[in-house]
Order: sequence, then C-alpha cells, then structure tokens
Amino acid sequence: AATLILWAVIGYGLGAIPFGMVLARIMGLGNLREIGSGNIGATNVLRTGNKTAAALTLVLDGGKGAAAVLLARAFAAEDAVMLAGFAVFIGHCYPVWLGFRGGKGVATFLGLWLALAWPVGIACCLTWLSAALLSRISSMGALAAAAASTPWAIALGYGEAFVPGAALTLLVFWRHRANITRIRAGTEPKIGQK
Ligand code: G3P
Repeated sequence: AATLILWAVIGYGLGAIPFGMVLARIMGLGNLREIGSGNIGATNVLRTGNKTAAALTLVLDGGKGAAAVLLARAFAAEDAVMLAGFAVFIGHCYPVWLGFRGGKGVATFLGLWLALAWPVGIACCLTWLSAALLSRISSMGALAAAAASTPWAIALGYGEAFVPGAALTLLVFWRHRANITRIRAGTEPKIGQK
C-alpha cells in the first residue's frame, strides 16, 4: 500500500506541473487565465499566437503523462503503473498550486496512453487528429479521442484497462463541460482562433 501511495503522489506531483502556464509566463505571453478559454493547455497557449509555446506545452504536458507511467513501470509493479497514469491526469486537472483549477487533461491523457499501451495511444492520437481536422475544433478532437479510447483499448487487446480507461473518458468529458455547451451552441472557436 505504501508503494501505491508513493506512486499516486509522484504521478500527481508530475501532473500538477502546469507547463502551459509556466511557459506562457516565461515567454512573456501573458496570463492564460485572461486569454481565450482561460485554460492552461496547449490549445489555449496557441491562442496567444505563439506556436512554439503551444507545441512545447503539448509535448511537456504529454511527456509528464508518459513519464509517470514509464517511471512506475521501471521501478514498481504493474498495479502502480495504472495508478501513476491516473494520478498524473488528476494532477494536471486539479493541481494544488493553482487552487485545484487545472487543465482538461487531453495532452496528458494522450501521453499516458502512449506509455501505457502505445497502440492505444497512437489510435487515440489519430482519432484526435481526424476529429480535429474535420471540425477544426480542438475540443472536438479531445472528446472524440476520449470517447474512442476504451473501445480502442478493448479492440487492441488492452481490455484490462477498461475501468481506469472509462474513468479517464468520463473525466475528460467532465473537464470539457464548458466546451460541450459551446459546441452545442455553435460558438466553440476553431483551432488558433482567439
Ligand atoms: O485540450 C483542451 C482542449 O480540448 C480544449 O481547450 O482551451 O479550447 O478549452 P480550450
């Protein structure tokens, strides 16, 4: 149990690093809370107009998701791996440093899936890309990838990830409540739009 708690804490700690917020601050792009959706993720960093910062945010937020899983896999048993993956996502969405007001978990979600089961991760990235390209809306990509992740996991032979995978899907949807409302109202901005 002590090891599991340790990996939950490590995962959460990694997840709670708000790379988008930090990069925007360091690179002088302003306060993300006052830009676009107010979110700390790559999509909103892109609304500052700085593509490099957005790409870095995507890679680092995804990277921390992958790192939590890979570290747990290197140093702990398999039950800690899933937990670390879940914890890094929670850390990103509810970071203690930002009064638990974090991101929507999409990059982290993709990163942790890539590390957990790379075929599922690739399938989710491709789902994100297809839906985002078709709709030109980032949150559409996110919702499609989240919805498809558990079916992908089952189809690709990772059925044991059903429960945590489905929980992640629900959390991604929950974090996109405002986006879903805007999509339904037809007011969700296209990628890169302010
Ligand atoms: O990754 C989050 C994305 O799906 C939506 O971001 O800033 O448009 O709410 P945003």
